[in-house]
Amino acid sequence: MKVAVIGAAGGIGQALALLLKNRLPADSHLALYDIAPVTPGVAADLSHIPTPVSIKGYSGEDPSPALQDADVVLISAGVARKPGMDRSDLFNVNAGIVKSIAEKVAQCCPTACVGVITNPVNTTVAIFAEVMKKAGVYDKTKLFGVTTLDVIRAETFVADLKDKDPRDVRVPVIGGHSGVTILPLLSQVNDIGFSEEEIDALTRRIQNAGTEVVEAKAGAGSATLSMGQAACRFALSLVDALQGKEGVIEYAYVDSGSPHATFFAQPLKLGKQGIETVLDYGILSAYEQNALDGMLEILRSDIQAGVDFIHD
Ligand SMILES: NC(=O)c1ccc[n+]([C@@H]2O[C@H](COP(=O)([O-])OP(=O)(O)OC[C@H]3O[C@@H](n4cnc5c(N)ncnc54)[C@H](O)[C@@H]3O)[C@@H](O)[C@H]2O)c1
Repeated sequence: MKVAVIGAAGGIGQALALLLKNRLPADSHLALYDIAPVTPGVAADLSHIPTPVSIKGYSGEDPSPALQDADVVLISAGVARKPGMDRSDLFNVNAGIVKSIAEKVAQCCPTACVGVITNPVNTTVAIFAEVMKKAGVYDKTKLFGVTTLDVIRAETFVADLKDKDPRDVRVPVIGGHSGVTILPLLSQVNDIGFSEEEIDALTRRIQNAGTEVVEAKAGAGSATLSMGQAACRFALSLVDALQGKEGVIEYAYVDSGSPHATFFAQPLKLGKQGIETVLDYGILSAYEQNALDGMLEILRSDIQAGVDFIHD
């Protein structure tokens, strides 16, 4: 397995690279790329960790050597939020970055599974898809917006509130990856009941959890360490499934054929080629159905902004 991390010198990229160096299967290769000149040094630093995962770092204008023949590409290149910004404020800078990386992926590793972390994910995934379509290499079973951070936050917050071991809590999170488009399905959490007030408070906290971190970091960035962990969980699941492990299920924002929007986060069975089956997210409570109905216009317009960015 060759796994490429693009944006590898950043807050998320370094945390993710550290986790992957420790946890990828033996004989994997980790390729790090960032425009920042420090990137070969990040790889040199990580190369001293004694695991059977080889690593090489690349910087400069061209990501091609890192992307060439990659099986999995994780993209966290771009700028992060500062206090007072929402994810859509990142659009102008990050849209161009994701477009140029997608063009290189289309040339260097068109059949790779790609996890887009760069915000606004609701839009950057659509941008990525449009570039791949233009190049004639789009495969919807291989493109993922990484929403795992919403899932791990939901699990943590529910466990905190109900005094449970977070490792035993599973919370489905569907929709998109910003504000009200993030929809945790608390009605489906096994063996835990919630009052209406708890559901409302938890839902809002999960939707705004990124802002908690942005404000706590006071201008020095957004979630990086928890996001590194979330992206590592997603990437390891993907690698397991690509290598033939059965029964691997993760949530991600994908071109799922959903009646709601072109891209929608929901449960996926992963397999040797990427998405094997898009799974049903089950029955919603009245609260969740109302939240779903209320988010769709925003989600669709976020997606359209990505399509327009490529075609206008
Ligand atoms: N999906 C999620 O749940 C989630 C969570 C948190 C943050 N994010 C997003 O992830 C992105 C990265 O966040 P961060 O905290 O690591 O930011 P950061 O500023 O610490 O790192 C970004 C890195 O991208 C690099 N970069 C910029 N342009 C590049 C290019 N063209 N090619 C390669 N590298 C390039 C920068 O040099 C920098 O090292 C942001 O867009 C942020 O909003 C997503």
